[in-house]
Amino acid sequence: MHLKRIGTMAATVLVLLLPLAVAEETGTGPIIRFEKTAHDFGKLPSDSKVAFSWSFRNIGDAPLKITGTRPQCGCTATVQDDTLIPPGGSGSLEITFDPAGLSGSIRKSLAVRTNERSERRTLLEIMATVIPVERKVEEGTHPPTAGQSLLIGSCAGCHAAPAAGRTGADLYAAVCAMCHGENATGGLAPSLRERDYLTSRDDVELHGYITYGSANPKMPGFSALMGGPLSEPQIDSLVELLRTWGPLSSGEK
Ligand code: HEC
Ligand code: HEC
Repeated sequence: MHLKRIGTMAATVLVLLLPLAVAEETGTGPIIRFEKTAHDFGKLPSDSKVAFSWSFRNIGDAPLKITGTRPQCGCTATVQDDTLIPPGGSGSLEITFDPAGLSGSIRKSLAVRTNERSERRTLLEIMATVIPVERKVEEGTHPPTAGQSLLIGSCAGCHAAPAAGRTGADLYAAVCAMCHGENATGGLAPSLRERDYLTSRDDVELHGYITYGSANPKMPGFSALMGGPLSEPQIDSLVELLRTWGPLSSGEK
C-alpha cells in the first residue's frame, strides 16, 4: 500500500517530466555545415601572409556556437561573430596563414568544435605550395643597431639562418658581407683587412670577436654560445679566411 503510493507518485512525476525531456531531444540540434572543408592557397611566396574566410551555415534547428578552434597550421583562427547563429543563419571563421620559413607542398589542418550534440569536430584543411623568396630590406624600416637581437626572431631569417651549412668564403658572403663588404674590404662596418688591424690581432682574438662580438653592439656575438648561428668549426673557418685573404696591399680595394 505504502510502496504502491510511492510508485504512483514516481509515475506521475515521470509523466510530468517526460514531455519536457522529449522536447529537448527531438529535432537535430545545431548542425554546422561548411561551404567547403579544404582550401588551396595555390602558389604562395614565403613572405606573404594570407587570409581565408570559411563560410558556414547552421542547418540544424537550434542555435549554433563555435566553442573552440585548434589550428595545427601555424595559422591563427578568428571567429568573426561569436554570438549564437540561429537555425538557418550563417557565419564565418577567418584564418590567417603565415608561410614564413616553410617551403614546398604544405598541407595543414584546423579542428573546429561547436555545441553540436554529436560533439564531433570538423577538420578544415589548408594547402599551399610555398615558394621561398629572397628577402629584401625595406627602405627606412631597418634599425641601425641591434646587439644580439640581430640574430634572433624575425631578424634571423636574413642575419642568422643563411649561415646554415656554410663555411669560409661562402659563410662570410652569407652573413658578414652585408656589413663588412665584399671580401671584408669595408661597407657599413669597417674593413677587416687593414694591415694594422690584422697584424695586431692573433687568431684567438679574431675568434673571440666573432664568438662574443665587440664592445660595440653593432657587432654581435655570432656563436651558438651567444644565441647566434655559428658553430666552433664555422668560426675557425672565418678566422682562416681572414688570414688567407690577408691585409690589403696599399691602394687595393
Ligand atoms: C630581409 C632581410 C633582412 C631582415 C629581415 C633584417 N635585415 Fe638587417 N640587414 C639586411 C641587409 C641586406 C643589411 C645590409 C645593409 C642593407 O642592405 O641595408 C642589413 C644590415 C643590418 C644592420 C647594419 C646596419 C648599419 O647601418 O650598420 C643592422 C644593425 C641590422 N641589419 C639589424 C637588423 C635587425 C635588428 C633586424 C630584425 C628586426 C633585421 N636587421 C632584419 C637584411 C635584413
Ligand atoms: C650588422 C652588421 C655586422 C655584421 C652582420 C657583422 N659585423 Fe663584424 N662588425 C660590425 C661593426 C659595426 C664592427 C665594428 C665594431 C666596433 O667598432 O667595435 C664590427 C667588428 C668586427 C670585428 C672586429 C672587432 C674588433 O673590435 O676588433 C670582426 C673581427 C668582425 N666584425 C667580424 C665579423 C664576421 C666574421 C662577421 C660574420 C660572421 C661579422 N663581423 C658580421 C658589424 C657587423
